[in-house]
Amino acid sequence: MRQSQARKKEEESIPAIVYKKAKARRETESVPMAAGLQMLAIETSCDETAVAVLSNGRTILSNMVASQISLHERFGGVVPEIASRRHLEVINPLLKQALEKADAGFVDISAVAVTIGPGLVGALLIGLGAAKAISYVTGLPLVGVNHIEGHLFANFLEHPDLRPPLVCLIVSGGHTSIVYMPDFGKYELVGETLDDAVGEAYDKVSNYLGLGYPGGPVLDGLAKDGDPSSIHFPRAMLHDGFDFSLSGLKTAVLNYVTRERSAGREVNVANLAASFQAAVVDVLVAKTVAAAQRFEVENVALAGGVAANSGLRAGFEAAASKTGFELFYPSPALCTDNAAMIAAAGYYRFLSGERLPLTANPDPNLRLT
Ligand code: KG4
Ligand code: ZN
Repeated sequence: MRQSQARKKEEESIPAIVYKKAKARRETESVPMAAGLQMLAIETSCDETAVAVLSNGRTILSNMVASQISLHERFGGVVPEIASRRHLEVINPLLKQALEKADAGFVDISAVAVTIGPGLVGALLIGLGAAKAISYVTGLPLVGVNHIEGHLFANFLEHPDLRPPLVCLIVSGGHTSIVYMPDFGKYELVGETLDDAVGEAYDKVSNYLGLGYPGGPVLDGLAKDGDPSSIHFPRAMLHDGFDFSLSGLKTAVLNYVTRERSAGREVNVANLAASFQAAVVDVLVAKTVAAAQRFEVENVALAGGVAANSGLRAGFEAAASKTGFELFYPSPALCTDNAAMIAAAGYYRFLSGERLPLTANPDPNLRLT
């Protein structure tokens, strides 16, 4: 088909009025700035399909999350191919639901934010493909968001007073790092895990004990009934810089369980969970507090799925009242993967003039720093 014929066919297949508006927008980008700005955001980096509509970078109009946990739990972790296929199945209905809940149509939206990494490449492609399609048809500008920055921005959603400079502990299924944020859009990596991520350690321990996936919420619940000083687990690199090592702790837990079982003793899972959690929390708190002191910041934030952990929050609360820093963390639903946090990060990137071209690809290893 010749190019002009292809273009004509394309114009016919899209309702004329939408096409004309889209064409005009692509050429001029006449988008309302700041006041009344509504952001549509899409997140598909792992095993949650999520779509949100956010007004003025703060007010959540809708925040829909379709979890795939039930599909992956029998495998003890996320199966990338299954994740991509499910994203593809649910993305369109979820977009419709999110817009309906926000009482909005594409005409009310100013820009589309989408997670471009880090994450599973096949999963990221589904969200990015959907966002590109919307951008192409409607002419709305596209903004690419780093998933980790999204987690950090969940804090700004719920704490309007929070401003950089700050130190943030980012703890999820795939990431464990301490980041210094001197200003909006500026990040300095202070420390990161040399092996397993914290969420990954929770998931592996839970899997080994046959307690299911994801392990974090299960072990967190069990830890509430256990004695945290009943079993001593190692606190690797506790006073040794800002990097973490968690694989030794995970192995120590697994060895303990094997030893107890082979000696014919029953493992007290509540005590085990509480002791494991205490070891994790001690290291995360000590290093983050040291980083806050080193950068002389008053604000400390927690982000990522593991920031929902009750022991971690309690540990940081205690450190905050002892040391005097201001502590911020999102509510549990905004700690785990969601699209409202992507919209919040995308809002600032959009206002600073960033745009993602329709030719962009996802970056599964995208870094924040
Ligand atoms: O941020 P997230 O939803 O996805 C990633 O970007 O990885 O984090 C998921 C991780 C899982 O490893 C899960 O076990 C952990 O967060 N998690 C928790 C808790 N809730 C979720 N870990 C400890 N305690 C929790 N309450
Ligand atoms: Zn995440």
